Amino acid sequence: MKVLVIGSGGREHSICWKIGQSSLVDQVFCAPGNGGIAQDAVCVDITATDIASLISYVKKNNISLSVVGPEAPLVDGIVDAFESEGLKVFGPTKAAAALEGSKAFAKNIMKESLIPTAAFGIFNDHKKASQFIKDSQNPVVVKADGLAAGKGVIVASTKEEALCAIDDIMLKKAFGDAGAKVVLEKRLAGEEASFIAITDGSHIIPMASSQDHKRAFDNDEGPNTGGMGAYSPAPVVDSQIHGRVMDEVLYPLIAGLKKKGIIYKGFIYAGIMIDEKKPSVLEFNVRLGDPETQPLLMRLKGDMVPVLMEVANGGSIKTMTLEWHDDPSICVVIASGGYPGNYEKGKPISGLDEAGKIDGVKVFHAGTKKQDGKIVTSGGRVLGVTACGIDIENAIKKAYEATSKISFDGSFYRKDIGKKALER
Ligand code: AMP
Ligand code: GLY
Repeated sequence: MKVLVIGSGGREHSICWKIGQSSLVDQVFCAPGNGGIAQDAVCVDITATDIASLISYVKKNNISLSVVGPEAPLVDGIVDAFESEGLKVFGPTKAAAALEGSKAFAKNIMKESLIPTAAFGIFNDHKKASQFIKDSQNPVVVKADGLAAGKGVIVASTKEEALCAIDDIMLKKAFGDAGAKVVLEKRLAGEEASFIAITDGSHIIPMASSQDHKRAFDNDEGPNTGGMGAYSPAPVVDSQIHGRVMDEVLYPLIAGLKKKGIIYKGFIYAGIMIDEKKPSVLEFNVRLGDPETQPLLMRLKGDMVPVLMEVANGGSIKTMTLEWHDDPSICVVIASGGYPGNYEKGKPISGLDEAGKIDGVKVFHAGTKKQDGKIVTSGGRVLGVTACGIDIENAIKKAYEATSKISFDGSFYRKDIGKKALER
């Protein structure tokens, strides 16, 4: 069968690479894809949010299954649109995707379903928000309600910083309508992990645990980014935490949504903070993580296409499982100088072939394109150099050996990806 993956990042490259290995799949397409995805799929020049064009492409090319990578088309209702045309698509509906599309919706459902999360208030009035910050004992985390390309969360260290953040979001409209409402919540301490699963709306297949590195620079310094690297498994998610996330977060979540008439189907990502063996939810995403997916899918044994197909068909995954290789995996993101702020594009990249030849290494492309037969940079996060090894130390060594072979003008990467796992 033919499968279409929608999106253009490192996450989508790894999804194309994995799905392409399935014996059920003859051909993988990716819309719009990128310079590296073109090696593993047929790239189709349609953006991820151009739903009407995607539908007509899928119909014309007899594509049996579409898998949606990023959140924006999900929040826009791509799944509802495909399903109303009788097309098979893997992902949550618009109503379910509100879990990521509105932080206020997510916090309210957590409250109703007794899911552990930071104490919070929701405000659409700047004066009231400002008073809440002034009255609070501790600095608060400020979150724009809607999608803000990963920039809508400000973990303030002082009241002044939090007040500045609500001015930017609510008065200066830094994120447009996404900031019409804000969530103000208690700042939590602990270690973060990403817990991702697949659900058919009743049953849940957990994926392996992983951990992202959100800050731009080593030792978790510098501005927040989309993610500068990841590894799997995350040792902080032991069997006890795993059980608690399933029982106290994911099952109550799908049950709580069901009560509202929402059947959640697709990937579900819980960003959790673990403190004294207790998990709290920081956020829900309605998709796979980027860059967590790159090391995750490298560790996935066998084929995930039957599970995706079953969910897209509205079936049950009750008796299905996913198996994982014991070998850990890590992904080091190479970014453009200046990211997550302004950066230049169009820099030729060297060393890709040499890096990809190292045993156990796959270089996933995020912000690249092909220009005059050469791969050049076209985004902030450019590559995700991903490696698996017999242990985390070995995986780190291989990933950095490969990373050191790749260069382009202005490139940078963190040198400490996986260090926390090593220390544990
Ligand atoms: P979110 O998009 O809500 O996950 O926020 C992005 C990042 O901000 C998270 O990965 C955390 O590093 C941080 N963050 C969000 N909420 C909190 C919180 N309540 N306490 C501490 N850090 C937080
Ligand atoms: N790596 C964080 C995310 O995908 O949201």
